[in-house]
Amino acid sequence: MVATVTPGLVDEILRLKKERRAVILAHNYQSRELQEIADFVGDSLGLAYQAQKTDAEVIAFCGVHFMAETAKILNPTRTVVLPDANAGCSLEQSCPADQLESYLKLHAARNFYVVAYINCSARVKALADCICTSGNAPAVVRAAPADRPILFVPDQNLGAWVMEQTGRPMELWKGSCYVHVEFTRDSIEAIRREYPDAAVVAHPECTYAVRLLADEVCSTEKMVHYCRQSPAKAFIIVTESGMLHRLRREVPGKEFIAGPTGHCACADCRYMKLNTLQKLHDALRDLTPQVQLPEDIIERAKRPILRMLEISR
Ligand code: 13P
Ligand code: SF4
Repeated sequence: MVATVTPGLVDEILRLKKERRAVILAHNYQSRELQEIADFVGDSLGLAYQAQKTDAEVIAFCGVHFMAETAKILNPTRTVVLPDANAGCSLEQSCPADQLESYLKLHAARNFYVVAYINCSARVKALADCICTSGNAPAVVRAAPADRPILFVPDQNLGAWVMEQTGRPMELWKGSCYVHVEFTRDSIEAIRREYPDAAVVAHPECTYAVRLLADEVCSTEKMVHYCRQSPAKAFIIVTESGMLHRLRREVPGKEFIAGPTGHCACADCRYMKLNTLQKLHDALRDLTPQVQLPEDIIERAKRPILRMLEISR
């Protein structure tokens, strides 16, 4: 579906951006219009680095809640706005901080080293030893102390992929992304029959059965590099549909085909797609909804995020 853009809206956003001394950051899953207006488009890791280094007074974060929280934790003196406050994440919801805390207390004798995928709340990050993204998860796990068992939260599929990559056993929290588990072996095999020469590129949040069919499994940012350097001329992209805009813009001359789910031609994350140009405009105008976090959570969550940024530098 092509969204209709109110005439003058883009100019008004750019005017407000200047007036507020704001930077607009957008995740690869945002709509084409939001990606086009953003100062930086990237994956969770790239966005975290951008949020850390910006000297803009306002960070307008076109992504989901945990990403905007990470920006606030890394740069707490900045105002961080998220166009839609309801832009959550099924992975974040699958690991409530009080449940993780109780689990860690119950198993205190095991002295878990907690690796938390960045797709979790600030309170969960505050309980973690190190954060990871899909772009650096194997490196983070390789850097974990060898003498402590790892508890990996909240994505069981990413966790299983990291175990395959590193050979390191881990205990996995049973969370999953509701979008990526919708891709099935049958849906990918069917599209592959239609495009036999296309390479299959899948996100590690996909299930094992789907990852097995992929020529490459990687983070959204690495998908751009992979497709650019690959000799293949066409790619089946097994992740959220917004990724296709980024790829078509940055890798011209190649064909990108949406990986279909079991019941839909392409996959939209309902949380990511809550953000719109109009809501971005309103957020810049009113400086709301703002991300606000208690100071102690910021302090505690910052340590494992910085540890991750150090490891993947
Ligand atoms: P990336 O960090 O690979 O962009 O993934 C974020 C995400 O939410 C995947 O569903
Ligand atoms: Fe969360 Fe999945 Fe949406 Fe990514 S695609 S933000 S993991 S619900």
